[in-house]
Amino acid sequence: MRICRAISSAATALKRPRAWLLLAFALTTAGCTHPLPEANTYPARLYAQRCGQCHTAYQPRSLTAAMWQAQVQMMQQRMRTAGIPPLSPEQKKIILGYLERNAGGE
Ligand code: HEC
Repeated sequence: MRICRAISSAATALKRPRAWLLLAFALTTAGCTHPLPEANTYPARLYAQRCGQCHTAYQPRSLTAAMWQAQVQMMQQRMRTAGIPPLSPEQKKIILGYLERNAGGE
């Protein structure tokens, strides 16, 4: 996951179409496009939709359950500042449940 993140930040820093192409290729070969767990279920789709708007949806196993709780809290704040409606209590429950079920170990 770390390599994917490094490549993504490099891509953001470059802001050149050609570089983007190369980096997209690098991302694919680095295995960053692995499908999300529980693919095509409602929780996975909701997660990809709500948490993939500003960056690609991170693999749930890249953080622990406790880290996800804190992260989702912070992302709610990001959504408010960006003028995107924050998660409803129901959506938050579904997304956190999904992330916790599939989270990485300590
Ligand atoms: C409004 C845009 C936006 C949305 C929507 C959004 N994020 Fe983010 N996210 C960001 C930004 C900007 C960063 C990088 C800066 C930061 O860490 O705050 C980030 C970073 C992250 C990181 C990486 C933190 C790290 O340590 O590198 C994770 C994990 C994450 N978001 C998860 C989520 C989840 C889960 C959701 C859905 C609940 C979500 N994001 C929705 C903007 C967003």
